[in-house]
Amino acid sequence: MRRADCAALAEIESSYPSPWSASRIVSELICPRGIALVAEKKGMVVGWCCARFIDTEAELLKIAVDPSYRRIHVGTRLMAEIISCLTRWGVVTIFLEVRAANYPAIHFYGTMGFVQAGVRRGYYREPVEDGLLLGLNVTEHAKADDEREP
Ligand SMILES: CC(C)(COP(=O)(O)OP(=O)(O)OC[C@H]1O[C@@H](n2cnc3c(N)ncnc32)[C@H](O)[C@@H]1OP(=O)(O)O)[C@@H](O)C(=O)NCCC(=O)NCCS
Repeated sequence: MRRADCAALAEIESSYPSPWSASRIVSELICPRGIALVAEKKGMVVGWCCARFIDTEAELLKIAVDPSYRRIHVGTRLMAEIISCLTRWGVVTIFLEVRAANYPAIHFYGTMGFVQAGVRRGYYREPVEDGLLLGLNVTEHAKADDEREP
């Protein structure tokens, strides 16, 4: 992700509830223990994700895909790439929070191997909603991937 991508990312953010502001997006560029990736199609930014990490743990803070480019595995590619980078840097566990009613995202994370690790009551605002805490052990994830290989 580059600074020049931030305007396009702010557009993608505005397509769903609780978007991040442009300045919040930029802050991920300068975070020393962070990683921010964009997905491009034909030179256009169509999705992004970012995470912060410390030692063996990371928190996925964001993944979002332009509505016109959903369900063509852009999110899957982004997630695979960020997991691969974090794993190379020694991360073992990745956590994230998701709104309890965000069924598409919950299903998406399930396809990536995330499992529920807890519930944070009233975690979200506007509207107030529970947050599900999901976790992924990247070692087990890689083993499952290997077993799926023909
Ligand atoms: C969640 C999100 C990132 C998924 O991105 P995507 O590129 O559309 O996802 P993919 O195409 O890689 O989907 C992979 C699998 O996840 C599941 N999935 C994805 N979107 C889904 C939906 N709307 N409903 C049900 N399952 C879904 C499917 O199993 C899908 O595989 P399939 O299409 O072969 O059946 C995207 O919907 C998004 O940007 N949502 C708004 C932002 C958001 O809610 N982010 C998460 C906040 S915690």
